[in-house]
Formats: sequence, structure tokens, C-alpha cells
Amino acid sequence: MAADTDARWVPIAVSADILNGTVVPAQMPKGPIAVWRAASGHLYANGDRCPHRGMRLSHGFVRGETLSCIYHGWRFGTDGVCQKIPAHPAVEPPKTINCGPVSVTEVNGVVWGAAASPVDPPVQFAGYNALRSLLISASVEAISSACHGETVEGVITAQLGGQGTILLTNVHGPDEALVIALLPTATSAQDRVKVSTALEALRRTAEGIGDAA
Ligand code: FES
Repeated sequence: MAADTDARWVPIAVSADILNGTVVPAQMPKGPIAVWRAASGHLYANGDRCPHRGMRLSHGFVRGETLSCIYHGWRFGTDGVCQKIPAHPAVEPPKTINCGPVSVTEVNGVVWGAAASPVDPPVQFAGYNALRSLLISASVEAISSACHGETVEGVITAQLGGQGTILLTNVHGPDEALVIALLPTATSAQDRVKVSTALEALRRTAEGIGDAA
């Protein structure tokens, strides 16, 4: 039976940053993963290690509804199972060869991942959508303090650039976290730029290299 931490949704990326037919690296509590969007627009994720010789699958390429390793071209399906080994085209790969599929879903323009399959969907923020993500070399506590925010279960609410902003956090280590900023969908383009700039200033303050805007 999966541990509770495995069945917990973690914010890992901004949906708009993963175009159809592309793969990107992301981080889960237990390690790196490769997140890829098939030509159909459906999103998938796997462990970021090829079961052949360990190449990062996030360096690979997407063709149709498959992900291929950049090194020797092993091809994986949406279920993570190896479909083809180019060096042995007549061989049907055993179903046991797979790259560790990870559950992913998209809410509020945010990609969430879970090692197991959570019973409940990720937390939803009605009327909000993702603005951008930013990797900050600081703890969640330092990030929250730098923007005078309130933090509940890793979600910081704060005023940034004059706008009420929600910051989702994904802890990568004691002093590093991915932050994904959400704004009300009606926020103007001008205000979105202001918040994005304020987020950069927040990063500098949290990292101790400057003052917040
Ligand atoms: S390391 Fe991936 S196919 Fe060889």
C-alpha cells in the first residue's frame, strides 16, 4: 500500500509551459520526473531515468502518443511500457520494461503530480489561473516572510505587485522551492507584468540578495 506522501498531489509546472509534442523535467518529493504532452494534448509523466542505461527521459523526444529516449531510442507508451527497441526491431519488449508512470492532472493552469493515485483531486482555486513559475533558493518560510504572506499547507497568500496572489510551493530541498504564482483570471496584462516583476524581487529578497519591490 502506498504511503500517504505518495498519494499527495504536488504542483510541478505551469500547463502553458508544456506544449504539445514536448517533454520537460520536473521534481517530485522522491526525485526527478519527465513530464510530456503528447500530440493529442494529453499530459503524461514518468520517472526521469531510462530503464536501459539511465539517460534522462526529459532529454528525449515526443512523437505522437509516445516518448523516446534520446540515447538509443527506446520508445515508451502512455502507460510507461516500452513499445520498441530500435536495435532489435523484431523483438517485442517485455511488458516489465517500463519507465515508472506518474499520475498527473491539470487544474487552474497548473500541472500536479502524484507518485500514487490520490482519491481526491488537487486543491482548486476558483477564478484563478497560473501566471508563471520560479525556482527560489530559499525555504518556504523565508519566501513567505519575504512577501509578508500567510502560509497554510505550503500555499502562500500575499499581495504582490498590488494584486492578491496565491503562491503554490513545491519543496525541492531545505533551501530550494519551486513557486507557481496564481492570479485572478480577470487580471489585466499590465498587472500580470507587475506581479511577475514583483515575484522576481521576492526571489531576490528571499535569497538575501536584494529588497522586495
Ligand atoms: S539509455 Fe535510453 S535507450 Fe539507452
